[in-house]
Amino acid sequence: MSFSSRHFRDCLGQFATGVAVVTTRNTVGQKVGITINSFSSVSLEPPLVLFSVARNAATHDVFTGDVQHFCINVLRSSQKDLAERFSSPIEDRWEETGFVDNGHGMPALIGNISTFSCVRHAVHDGGDHSIIVGQVNAVEMGETGDPLLYYGGAYAQLVRF
Ligand SMILES: Cc1cc2nc3c(=O)[nH]c(=O)nc-3n(C[C@H](O)[C@H](O)[C@H](O)COP(=O)(O)O)c2cc1C
Repeated sequence: MSFSSRHFRDCLGQFATGVAVVTTRNTVGQKVGITINSFSSVSLEPPLVLFSVARNAATHDVFTGDVQHFCINVLRSSQKDLAERFSSPIEDRWEETGFVDNGHGMPALIGNISTFSCVRHAVHDGGDHSIIVGQVNAVEMGETGDPLLYYGGAYAQLVRF
């Protein structure tokens, strides 16, 4: 490998993304959520999306384990606090976090820009991450607004041409 991990990360950071929180429940029903920017669309027919979760994340075994359903909550620019909360090692990420149960009993966040309710379709090896492919069984669009962005290791807002 002719480049350092730091340089690799810095170069990846030049690809601006949105930010989402993936939510689910573990096998004993506790709410679980993690901030991600690895969300991507995969297929229109059937409707498939993906995200990757680090093997060393505490939530990894939940997303790859017995529970099959999850929600991908795309954050709006006013929800930076949620992105920070769900990427921090705080005791209860759900304290003061508004949510509703979707049709499969999974907690969907309130106020986000769009929500994808998914059932797991496949898990692929992704090196130090696992790639979770979800089949989308419901979509919801919130009120219009600007998305939260992530670029160069920092949160950002959209500026339109
Ligand atoms: C903007 C942003 C994007 C992130 N994207 C991912 C991601 O796609 N996959 C991942 O595993 N972790 C990602 N993380 C890191 C996790 O949110 C973070 O490590 C979190 O604490 C993991 O929680 P857990 O250990 O409870 O699973 C991201 C963090 C930030 C701030």
